[in-house]
Amino acid sequence: MLMELPAVLPPDRAAAMRARLEAAEWIDGRVTAGYQAQRVKTNQQMAENHPLARELGDAILAVLERTPLFISAALPLKVYPPMFNRYQGGGRFGTHVDTAIRSVPGTPVRVRSDLSATLFLTPPEEYEGGELVVEDSYGAHAVKLPAGHMVLYPSGSLHDVRPVTQGARISAFFWIQSMVRDDAARTMLFDLDTAIQSVATDHPEHGSIIPLTGVYHNLLRRWADT
Ligand code: NI
Repeated sequence: MLMELPAVLPPDRAAAMRARLEAAEWIDGRVTAGYQAQRVKTNQQMAENHPLARELGDAILAVLERTPLFISAALPLKVYPPMFNRYQGGGRFGTHVDTAIRSVPGTPVRVRSDLSATLFLTPPEEYEGGELVVEDSYGAHAVKLPAGHMVLYPSGSLHDVRPVTQGARISAFFWIQSMVRDDAARTMLFDLDTAIQSVATDHPEHGSIIPLTGVYHNLLRRWADT
């Protein structure tokens, strides 16, 4: 499932993060790319251990922990510490699939990438190009979101970032290991949860809410790893 999460960060907070990132030092984005991806990646990143990257990454994680839509959609077990990239001057990231297993540097933690996330920090009117294009069985979807909005998509899908021909596109990106590995199962749980929330809002006394909630938890119990 490809999903947009609106207003994960308010615009002023996204702008403040971007301003601090713009003033920081950037390195060649190929340092974290696998062999295949290195050949098609021409962007810049913040070093993973840069204090600013860690501070802003932690701030993003703290927000996500309090974002019900993210929890419901991703059912996160582990989240890779967010990193930051910048595309400018024709920079792009050609078609690739994300590396399946990521080791968190300096720790014994490994994260299986079930979901990939991009949190846009630059308003779309400030740069040309830079769409994230994700392919699924229904075709290719181009995603270019307002600052502070985020997209989640299956890490195993082919995707690319189109060249940024004017301006610069700064984003946070990271991977999520979900409690529910299978994308179709996770999507059904999300749809069920969303439907239950909707009924509970419109008809809080409805007698089906408790049994439906039971079905949700029993499916989660069947499918989840913790
Ligand atoms: Ni990727």
